[in-house]
Amino acid sequence: MASRRILGGLMRRDFATSSQKQIARRKVAILGAAGGIGQPLSLLLKLNPLVSHLSLYDIAGTRGVAADISHINTRAEVEGFEGEEHLGEALKGADLVVIPAGVPRKPGMTRDDLFKINAGIVQSLCAAVAKHSPFALVNIISNPVNSTVPIAAEVFKLAGTYDPKRLFGVTTLDVIRARTFYAAKKLLPVEDVNVPVVGGHAGITILPLFSQAVPQVPISEDELVYLTKRTQDGGTEVVEAKAGKGSATLSMAYAGALFAEACLKGLNGVKDVVECSYVASSVTEIPFFSSKVQLGTDGIEKFFDLGPLSDYELQGLEKLKEELSKSIEKGQDYVHQ
Ligand code: NAD
Ligand code: LMR
Repeated sequence: MASRRILGGLMRRDFATSSQKQIARRKVAILGAAGGIGQPLSLLLKLNPLVSHLSLYDIAGTRGVAADISHINTRAEVEGFEGEEHLGEALKGADLVVIPAGVPRKPGMTRDDLFKINAGIVQSLCAAVAKHSPFALVNIISNPVNSTVPIAAEVFKLAGTYDPKRLFGVTTLDVIRARTFYAAKKLLPVEDVNVPVVGGHAGITILPLFSQAVPQVPISEDELVYLTKRTQDGGTEVVEAKAGKGSATLSMAYAGALFAEACLKGLNGVKDVVECSYVASSVTEIPFFSSKVQLGTDGIEKFFDLGPLSDYELQGLEKLKEELSKSIEKGQDYVHQ
């Protein structure tokens, strides 16, 4: 196939304005950029002034997405790469690689049902990351996140490039759902609300900590059960509403853009950037776990412990351990099979 490399953007790097020269140059590569998440995520990152170079890669369809987005008059220079032979070029020099490549759920499926196809996709993309952008931060969106992040870790270990502080499973969508549902239920201004969500990213492994929600307001047992379950089933709610046409894409693109921005801020030395993310962890005995981490110039700078949990949350934590541990082992075993 002929090269499908496109260079776009009104402003080439060398012609950035003087105020833009103050901001670090940051290349972000999106793998799976032509998909349901990839397209709006590409748009949101094109709008982000922290991004100087946006590299859009997919097996097909990137040519049009890159041409389209490149006409937006914001800082980021846009390049589109289509086909595996251009993956290395797409990744070269990336500070941050975001991976939403892979198939989404249909009604009746679990995220684990995607393992068969997505495990191989994440494995091969991460092998390319290890080769072409070994120092990049990596944000994994592809499901099942509980297994794909351990897959990525094993691939990087085999390649000799593994740095646990640079590998992240994106669980931000769980946080934004918990914030939205809590604010709606308690009639709070949603922009003032925060709720940590820990554990993993599937069903009962998603554990929102409403006992640590900000602001704190009284919450009944029934409300707590409702809010926890709605957060845990948020993905399924969207899958069912889309009735066979995929899973969350727009809210996920927003969540992915928020988390990517947090990573870029950390790289740029902004202080006190704290997000929940599914990472290699010793916060619990489970080797990968989502909890609050502080992002810095080399990735994770600090892990926060879980803080005081309510009895309900302690029970939830006990319940999730077996499923999460099995999903992690499944991912690790896959790479060594
Ligand atoms: P989609 O089918 O619309 O898009 C996926 C894209 O990946 C397609 O453009 C496809 O061509 C591309 N792709 C497939 N194989 C590839 C490869 N080897 N290299 C590069 N690109 C490849 O799916 P979507 O709705 O964008 O969802 C993508 C994934 O994100 C799914 O696995 C879904 O379950 C997951 N997801 C995760 C979260 C989360 O919170 N982490 C939220 C929503 C969706
Ligand atoms: C979500 O939480 O929306 C995603 O993980 C997609 C899904 O399959 O539910």
